[in-house]
Amino acid sequence: MANIKFFTGMDIPLELHKVRMVQKLNLQPIERRLEAISEAGNNTFLLKNKDIFLDMLTDSGVNGMSDRQTAAMLICDDSYAGSASFERLEAKVHELFGTDYLLPAHQGRACENILAISFVKEGDIIPMNFHFTTTKAHITRLGGRVAELLSDEGIQTSSDNPFKGNIDLDKLRRFIADTDPQHIPFLRVEAGTNLIGGQPLSLENMHDVCEICREHHIMTVLDASLLQDNLYFMKTREEQCKNLTIREITKRVADEFDIIYFSARKFGFARGGCIAIHDKKHYDQMRELVPMYEGFLTYGGMSVREMEAITVGLDETMDEDVISQGPLFIDFMTKELLKRHVPVVTPSGGLGCHLNAREFLPHIDDHEYPAGALAAAVYLAGGIRGMERGTLSEQREADGTEPIADVELLRLALPRRVFTMSQVLYAVDRITWLYENRNLVGGLRWVEEPGSLRFFFGRLEPTSNWQEKLVAKFRADFKDSL
Ligand code: F0G
Repeated sequence: MANIKFFTGMDIPLELHKVRMVQKLNLQPIERRLEAISEAGNNTFLLKNKDIFLDMLTDSGVNGMSDRQTAAMLICDDSYAGSASFERLEAKVHELFGTDYLLPAHQGRACENILAISFVKEGDIIPMNFHFTTTKAHITRLGGRVAELLSDEGIQTSSDNPFKGNIDLDKLRRFIADTDPQHIPFLRVEAGTNLIGGQPLSLENMHDVCEICREHHIMTVLDASLLQDNLYFMKTREEQCKNLTIREITKRVADEFDIIYFSARKFGFARGGCIAIHDKKHYDQMRELVPMYEGFLTYGGMSVREMEAITVGLDETMDEDVISQGPLFIDFMTKELLKRHVPVVTPSGGLGCHLNAREFLPHIDDHEYPAGALAAAVYLAGGIRGMERGTLSEQREADGTEPIADVELLRLALPRRVFTMSQVLYAVDRITWLYENRNLVGGLRWVEEPGSLRFFFGRLEPTSNWQEKLVAKFRADFKDSL
């Protein structure tokens, strides 16, 4: 994004790229949207793309690719073993992170599977700033637990703390003092903390956390899936990073951790996964699982084309003009909603704009899923697909009790380089309309509730006929508009 001062005083992010390939979208009438959300069991994961106008479900695997990435995909080496495409990826990761070893996997959660199988055993506790859904599922499946050591401010939805993803160092020291070291296989830091609104950690906090772990011989693992947004926030929000390049910040981050893994569906603007490792001992502990679960060591389930696209995508990630686009668009959307008094998570983070469903719909009980209901309502209001990030995304305890999520959010992801300003403004308009009519929105209840990762495939229904009432109000207000 360009640092442009406008003569007319406009305050808008300006893209430093142009669009050279497009995909047609459908904006269905609200009556069809009502049918579609019912067919999908009020679960936005189960909607079909033909019924969606703005797909803000995720930033995973759907970022806009560059001409250079597309060109690189044409020259690739599809050798099963010893592929030159893998060598190029390996060399790029080494250049950026300084790590000597690389294991490929088909996506981020596959890296988590390999890490968990290699290091987690029954009774282990893995400290981290905050969990991610798939990370936690892999750890608990093996009989381990997660300990969240996020600073208390991390879950305050309205804040001006620039680094809400930071680990509380006192909590970390207490955790280490109170836990049998045999049961701490590693500490995990998640850059751009997803489930609290894409909130970053500071370089200082990463350093302090890793320093404490080094003192206690605890291995450190960075989930770098959302590192690109985090790098931008370090550069723009942290004094010690102001005069460093993105490359230099990346290297400083990578120097802190023993192992760095990432979903290249986010970090790298393509599709795949990587585990970058400093120490051969750790590489050897994980290596055999790659051919067993993913594919041979020189592709790990990724297509060679995607590996070429990741290599170029990682290089582009080192360009501040490129990685600023997501955070600046998200900040723009967040501020436009705030101007209209819509409750959103502040400060704006990476990944997407996050609506605070507990404040948006205070009349809905947590057990009737405010963020899930808001996801269905936002889809009805504008054909906009978001993702519930709250209680529905939690897992029941073994005894069936339902943990209530710390934060109850509707995430509206802004995949990088994908949406236009007018589409963002359309979303702001429809969400504002919904906010004005929030009293019409009711809760949801289960029709089919799977035992694990229920948010992916579970089905729900409205607790009353609130959706029909919302459609009628839309028609009254918008007449024959889509
Ligand atoms: N870690 C983080 C922080 C993530 O956000 C994700 C995926 C993963 C790991 C797993 O990576 O999808 O390639 O297997 N997040 C996506 C999302 C699914 O929509 O937030 P993956």
